[in-house]
Amino acid sequence: MIIVLIGLPGSGKGTQGQLLAEKIKLPLISTGDMFRKMLQSNGEEGALLNDFISQGKLVPSKLVNKVVEKFLGQQEYKNGCIIDGYPRNLEQVKFLEEITKQDIKVIYFEISEGLIRKRILGRFSCVGCGKIYNSYYTRPKVENVCDICKSTNFTYRKDDDEQTLIKRINEYKTETYPIIDYYKKRGGCYVIDASKTTGEISAELESLFR
Ligand code: AP5
Ligand code: MG
Repeated sequence: MIIVLIGLPGSGKGTQGQLLAEKIKLPLISTGDMFRKMLQSNGEEGALLNDFISQGKLVPSKLVNKVVEKFLGQQEYKNGCIIDGYPRNLEQVKFLEEITKQDIKVIYFEISEGLIRKRILGRFSCVGCGKIYNSYYTRPKVENVCDICKSTNFTYRKDDDEQTLIKRINEYKTETYPIIDYYKKRGGCYVIDASKTTGEISAELESLFR
């Protein structure tokens, strides 16, 4: 089974993806995290990715599909996985259906735009293990020490500013909204109220896949 997480920026896909992966022992793929790693390489591909991500625009589907196909072909993902941030438009939906025989379950994180601003502007994450935090809502238990790996290095995302967020939301509305409709009609799409607390959502998701 492939579990696909869809929702606005800041709806909690990454946070819940990490928690669910740990609980049900499925590997997690995050296309956003993958691209952020790739753009650290100084090559042509890194520069291209940087152009799109820093503008809050979707990376071209041809490239995204190629990268995802490579991942899903690996033994580690053959028995299922959780994918955070893919597919994100109809072209990617079709491509995923073509390359896998696995059952595709969709979790749609429904949230109003008004709630995501503080989530995005307050987000930071651990450089050591990627654990996601928030300066307003979820700080590490010991200040400046990661709860999971005890690293003291944290990082902010370059696209987490007001201007880029507006662009990301617009991109989401034009490209990604149609796929929610598609999956709702197809069936197998579970809607989560993403305005609830992290703990509430996590418990709900765990009960679905236990
Ligand atoms: P991506 O990294 O996927 O970003 P996004 O979709 O904008 O989503 P975010 O990561 O911002 O939000 P999230 O839902 O993961 O929220 P999180 O759990 O962190 O993509 C980045 C870019 O990469 C794209 O713009 C595009 O350029 C490119 N890209 C990626 N995939 C692509 C694809 N398939 N095709 C084309 N391009 C692609 O939570 C946010 C904050 O809120 C955190 O601080 C967290 O602590 C806090 N929080 C979480 N849940 C709660 C809660 N319940 N209550 C209170 N606070 C909470
Ligand atoms: Mg994310």
